[in-house]
Amino acid sequence: MKREVVKTADGSLTIHIPEMNENYHSGHGALQEAKHVFIQHGLLEFKDREEVAVFEMGFGTGLNALLTLENCLLRGHRVSYTGIEAFPVDIAMAKAMNYESSVDSKISEQFEKMHRCSWNEEHQLTALFSFQKLHEKIENYIPINETFDVIYFDAFGPRAQGEMWDVTILTKMHRLLKPGGLFVTYCAKGQLKRDLKSIGFRVESLPGPPGKREMTRGWKGN
Ligand SMILES: C[S@@+](CC[C@H](N)C(=O)[O-])C[C@H]1O[C@@H](n2cnc3c(N)ncnc32)[C@H](O)[C@@H]1O
Repeated sequence: MKREVVKTADGSLTIHIPEMNENYHSGHGALQEAKHVFIQHGLLEFKDREEVAVFEMGFGTGLNALLTLENCLLRGHRVSYTGIEAFPVDIAMAKAMNYESSVDSKISEQFEKMHRCSWNEEHQLTALFSFQKLHEKIENYIPINETFDVIYFDAFGPRAQGEMWDVTILTKMHRLLKPGGLFVTYCAKGQLKRDLKSIGFRVESLPGPPGKREMTRGWKGN
């Protein structure tokens, strides 16, 4: 599948897939979206914890992992990060995104390590940040119940890849979360919110990143 590098409205880059007419990130701003949806309204809900376990659906360029690492070092808490990806982005394209330039230079070298390290095993990238990327389709992934505090659900949108938003996958995400865990996504579709509710999530609509009215979160239990 052809992938092109394109600029988004905040000046940060993303990948565009012409065949699907779909971007890896919001055209209104890749960096803004990742920070707002996944860091501010995902990871930071657990900022007072000593340790946070994160699962990312769709590791892609590694932007969310890089921003999570930056935050982990800033706050000094431990993070164990697992990203699943069926169709890896090659290292040259990941580096072409130039995401390292938006984080501290001490962290930027870790970005390349994330892309170069082997799949399907854990890597201790820093004293506080352990990292694993799974080369697998989410459909085939067998969840270990109650493993993660937060899930960054960063699949392609429902228009481009509707099957990623199916109740079967969302139920798998619910099982993966610990009680009190959080599912967070940029998507604000009514059908998603109804499906999350039917699975047992407590659903919240929050203001979206610049250019998007809303985003969605689902809490498991309480
Ligand atoms: C919206 S993009 C992800 C963006 C990514 N989080 C980033 O920051 O670059 C969706 C990702 O899901 C991956 N993907 C598509 N189908 C998948 C599947 N069945 N299982 C796992 N990953 C899949 C794509 O290859 C792509 O990397």
